[in-house]
Amino acid sequence: MIELDDVTVYYPKAEEPAVSRVNLSLQPGEFVCVLGPSGAGKSTLIRTINALQPVTYGQVLIQGENVDEMSEAQKRAWRSRAGMIFQHFHLIPRLTVQQNVLTGLFGKRRAFLNAAGFFSQREKEKAERVLKKVGLVDMARRRVEALSGGQKQRVGIARALMQEPEVFLGDEPVASLDPGTARSVFGILKDVHDKQQLMSLINVHDVALAKSFATRVIGLVGGEMIYDGPPDKLDSRNLEMIYGKAIHA
Ligand SMILES: Nc1ncnc2c1ncn2[C@@H]1O[C@H](COP(=O)(O)OP(=O)(O)O)[C@@H](O)[C@H]1O
Ligand SMILES: [Mg+2]
Repeated sequence: MIELDDVTVYYPKAEEPAVSRVNLSLQPGEFVCVLGPSGAGKSTLIRTINALQPVTYGQVLIQGENVDEMSEAQKRAWRSRAGMIFQHFHLIPRLTVQQNVLTGLFGKRRAFLNAAGFFSQREKEKAERVLKKVGLVDMARRRVEALSGGQKQRVGIARALMQEPEVFLGDEPVASLDPGTARSVFGILKDVHDKQQLMSLINVHDVALAKSFATRVIGLVGGEMIYDGPPDKLDSRNLEMIYGKAIHA
């Protein structure tokens, strides 16, 4: 379980907090979509949960453990349990799909094995299994640079799955894709989430996507959580509060 207890985050020299007094408790199985305009604090919130951004006030608890009190090694261990999916994929373009997916194991392996690029047969078979889950098994030997955006993000999801994560964290993972592809990749993400009963927190730019897939929606504005509830209760008044204008979704 992930718990945020009155979390406030200030960047150095900033006058206003990027995240302000956020209280949140995430349970296994929840697929939480975070909505909010640019600058609302969505990325900061994800980075805070992933122990990449220290909190200024309050605390983040991972299964009762305060992230701020973790050693660097403990933080790395926590990050390896949280699969991150990025808007711009963060893949290595010249490497193959399989090689990129195998880098998902890096957090759990000895550094010299990673540097040598050595992977066992078992690890390669595992890569094949996760590629099957995202429908890319036939592309294993293709270079990532030759793939479409939607395929690249499916590689991103497969790489996260290699970590056998308990949690998916997504920072606008489908914002760079055209609407049809975005919906299909988001559907794959949700499907994997459901099958593995993960806990997911995904920043989303598109209200309709959040409404179709989320089990719970959070609305952030100016770092404050102004909505936390089921997607079907998110009405036009809530959306106007979140985006400062009428949104039709
Ligand atoms: N590295 C940083 N240093 C200073 N200020 C930052 C940094 N990253 C984000 N901010 C500020 O924090 C606020 C929240 O940003 P961010 O979390 O990126 O929002 P979002 O992801 O919703 O667009 C914004 O005011 C932004 O300018
Ligand atoms: Mg952002």
